[in-house]
Amino acid sequence: MEIHLDSEPYASMQADALVTYVFDREHNLDGALGEIDRAMNGRLSSLAASGELTGKSLETVLLHFPEGLRAERLLVVGAGKPDRFAAGTDLRKIAGTALRLLKPRGVKKMAFLAGQDERGPRAVEAIVEGLIAADFESDKYRSEKKNRAIDRVALVGFDASREVSEALDQARVIGESMNFARELINEPSNKLTPRMLAARAEAMAKEAGLAIEILDERKIAELKMGALIGVAQGSIEPPRVIVVRYTPTNPRPGSPVLGLIGKAVTFDTGGISIKPATNMEKMKYDMGGGATMLGAMRALAALKPSIPVVCVIPATENMPGGRAQKPGDVVVAMSGKTIEVINTDAEGRLILADAVFYARKLGCTHLIDAATLTGAIEVALANVHVGAFGAPRDYLDRFLESAKATGEKMWPMPIDDEYEEMIKSSIADIRNTGSGKGGGASTGAWFIKEFVDDTPWVHLDIASTCWIDEGRPWLAKGPTGIALRSIVDFALKL
Ligand code: BES
Ligand code: ZN
Ligand code: ZN
Repeated sequence: MEIHLDSEPYASMQADALVTYVFDREHNLDGALGEIDRAMNGRLSSLAASGELTGKSLETVLLHFPEGLRAERLLVVGAGKPDRFAAGTDLRKIAGTALRLLKPRGVKKMAFLAGQDERGPRAVEAIVEGLIAADFESDKYRSEKKNRAIDRVALVGFDASREVSEALDQARVIGESMNFARELINEPSNKLTPRMLAARAEAMAKEAGLAIEILDERKIAELKMGALIGVAQGSIEPPRVIVVRYTPTNPRPGSPVLGLIGKAVTFDTGGISIKPATNMEKMKYDMGGGATMLGAMRALAALKPSIPVVCVIPATENMPGGRAQKPGDVVVAMSGKTIEVINTDAEGRLILADAVFYARKLGCTHLIDAATLTGAIEVALANVHVGAFGAPRDYLDRFLESAKATGEKMWPMPIDDEYEEMIKSSIADIRNTGSGKGGGASTGAWFIKEFVDDTPWVHLDIASTCWIDEGRPWLAKGPTGIALRSIVDFALKL
């Protein structure tokens, strides 16, 4: 899909479809709509007067062969009430909804017309990211593909500034990197074992110009990553630790080094604490955190932040094989801390324990981890917000600013000292599940913090937001690519 800026008058635009949006109760159509309405001899105003064109959020009106326009179709998408409109999120949804409505109708060339007040870089960024994300389909393993594609999108009437064209380029990189992550998340576990994930990471790194190192099971044993080894030993598939590095051309001495750590359990059966069969197939997406971090690295390679970034991804299956670790086992993490494994299904925190510690060994001064860590986060936040934990608080707050700026919903979650009490073990240093009632997402976070120590750190629990079971008008069902935009934005600003 090629996306470019254009400045032709709306009435003479040649396209399979013109797309624009209208606010709820917008009686006097202005901007693009006013121009189109005049070309169409007031047809749009009469549709608005008759109540067919309401402007209600994401309601669509599709007109064929609109009189007075050269385009074959006119699609008007509702933008909702103007006072509740946020360009960063709503333009994304509007553009995505338009693409997903027009693509199956055979539209090849679409033109998206700027609204009255939203002609700048932020609008273009949201529209371009929304279009690319909406274009993603999960049909890789279908014999009959839909074979419909929108080839060209013209963005018409936006500011002709350098900022706008830079925003377009940056949004393309971010949108495509999100889809790269989503493709990985979608892969079934027989098509994406830890070794295959490592190979995919290598191919990406090579293409993007990033340095990469894959630690195999021997190296992992040498480094004494006992918590990762404990999880991996139940599977016949060996684990891998994927290390990807971005180095700026002129690194400043003493600059922060950002560590991005992502959980990559390519399939989580629960291990000996086995999960029920219902929905277990979804545990192929338990590598969503790792995929997100690889996607973020792909984007950063192109966007070139001024600080070094090191990405560490522990990759393993969690299987109940004959050598599997058992509830009650004690493992020794790379840091030397001993862990009583109460529940083998709380494996994400175990592999992250060694990965965050290793990231610090590699010189990371600031950390972000992303993980499909707990079912408890769904209880707390449904599939609406990512649970964002972290310390110190101002570091977390800075990260939440990036989430806000990129239109990703995240909510700060508590990790007070009381949660620490809940992961004390009676026979080892810590246990891998909380002993108290509730607070499962917070005890999970505290467990990771044991290995983070005082390093500034953000932990994103994406268990309930990394995947949607039902499609949205602007997004296919399946992997969402959540958190990548915030992470990239944060890395560029740190
Ligand atoms: N991978 C799961 C968490 C998960 C649940 C991800 C639902 C996506 C959707 C994780 O490894 C897990 O099983 N966590 C347990 C922890 C518990 C045993 C303390 C959970 O949340 O039930
Ligand atoms: Zn688990
Ligand atoms: Zn898991």
